[in-house]
Amino acid sequence: MSKKFYVTTPLYYVNAKAHIGHAYTTVIADCAARFARLLGRDVFFLTGTDEHGEKIKKSAQDSGKTTIEFIDGVVEEFKKLWSKLNISYDHFIRTTDKQHCETVKLAIKKIYDKGDIYKEKYQGLYCLPCEAFWTKEQVKDTEGLCPDCGRALELIEEENYFFKLSKYQSWLLEHLSKNPDFIKPKSRFNEIKSFLEKNTLQDLCISRPAKRLTWGIEFPEDVDFIVYVWFDALLNYISAPGYSVNDMQFNNIWPADIHFMAKDIIRHHAVFWPIMLKALELEVPKTVFAHGWWKFDNQKMSKSLGNVVDPFDVIEQVGVDALRFFLLREIPVGLDGNFSWQAIFTRYNSDLANDFGNLVYRTLNMSEKYFDGIVTGADVPIPENFAQVLSSMKDKYIECFTACEFSVGIESVYTFISVLNKYIEDSKPWTMSKEGRTDELNNFLYAICEGIRICTVCLWPVMPQTCESVMHQLGIPADFSVNDIDWGIVKDYKIQKEQPLFPRIDVN
Ligand code: MSP
Repeated sequence: MSKKFYVTTPLYYVNAKAHIGHAYTTVIADCAARFARLLGRDVFFLTGTDEHGEKIKKSAQDSGKTTIEFIDGVVEEFKKLWSKLNISYDHFIRTTDKQHCETVKLAIKKIYDKGDIYKEKYQGLYCLPCEAFWTKEQVKDTEGLCPDCGRALELIEEENYFFKLSKYQSWLLEHLSKNPDFIKPKSRFNEIKSFLEKNTLQDLCISRPAKRLTWGIEFPEDVDFIVYVWFDALLNYISAPGYSVNDMQFNNIWPADIHFMAKDIIRHHAVFWPIMLKALELEVPKTVFAHGWWKFDNQKMSKSLGNVVDPFDVIEQVGVDALRFFLLREIPVGLDGNFSWQAIFTRYNSDLANDFGNLVYRTLNMSEKYFDGIVTGADVPIPENFAQVLSSMKDKYIECFTACEFSVGIESVYTFISVLNKYIEDSKPWTMSKEGRTDELNNFLYAICEGIRICTVCLWPVMPQTCESVMHQLGIPADFSVNDIDWGIVKDYKIQKEQPLFPRIDVN
């Protein structure tokens, strides 16, 4: 396995504040980044904002601010949320960054010089709000309306630059057949493969006349045109690590290990993007991972539908780590999920307050009560019923987190948590204390502390703040490594109990 790990989120549009859907992708990417760090890999985690296009300029106008003032404000909001959610990104790219704009121009020039970009007069059905062209074929099922937003289209004739997608179609199909992990989950792989098998790719219009679109990157050597926002935005994944400006760094980081996004933009990432890279003679990403949608009342959560949930509201109710836990535990990455307050409170009270929080609190409480917080572990053997569960939990956890199956991976940690809770019930430590069986009581508490420590290491990518606090309360350094998912690593515990991690929430 290579040591470096490059993971990305999509660049979010800045026409509105982030909602739970945006938080979801970013938390998934953060969990993957932290897990890679746990494995000792050298991580480059990229997120950022997509800032060009008329829609964004229009939102700025509506707010009465200048475009850049408006965008700066939204970017600050995004950064505030990522900081609150403990998102450990290494770089935040904005498509208005000077270096990114230069890279976009350079990449276009390179592809143009190679003959894969050409200029042509074009007639097409155009959706102004989506800034997208559609063919007659594409709108035949939507009665001539925009397949994305359902609004009326205009017939437009103009000159534009086109990128030869068609030239690379058979190469992409071959790449897919040789690389079954290129698109995940499998259902999306099959969808893209069958799309490529059944359709002939149309060349992609990658410019907009400057008379119509002004807020964007100027086309190199042709000021009458502006670069199409998607062509601009996708290139962020190579401009951020330093393509064309810092070759050494770029070669260390590229290709990306995983691009995360939701299923609605899989085609941009699994068709346009690899072809752009091929034209630039660069390697393609190892995996493009499309997760499902968070819905509210069974409709995709989106600003335009007005059904968004504000992550700050959820954090206020249940805290940062409970939100992260809920997003990662509730649905397998890849499937859709329905957001409900009922579901989040139930998950909080059962998995966090009851199973994990209570396990930690009562163990620390007993350690202080019976031993003034000093639990010694010299030569305490692993209890018989732990060994088997721990070993299969460790294998399953590593396998699932490597495959980004976080929900199942968390479930496997919970099998161990329930063994620990049952061990407390079955061992009856209060009787050991009453009968003066001090050594037995110490060994029992050591075993539970070791169990808690191991689960805490595993859960750190999911709930970093909570897990760091647990380590602190156990009196051991908050260092997290996969090598610590083993028995007997810590010799003595010096407990410093704090408040319960997840006080129960009374829902009524
Ligand atoms: N700017 C483009 C992406 C360019 S990437 C080079 C874009 N931006 S977006 O603001 O619309 O964000 C889309 C991404 O936000 C989705 O791919 C997904 O990661 C996340 N989500 C937005 N709404 C979502 C849900 N309701 N549910 C899950 N994820 C959602 O597209």
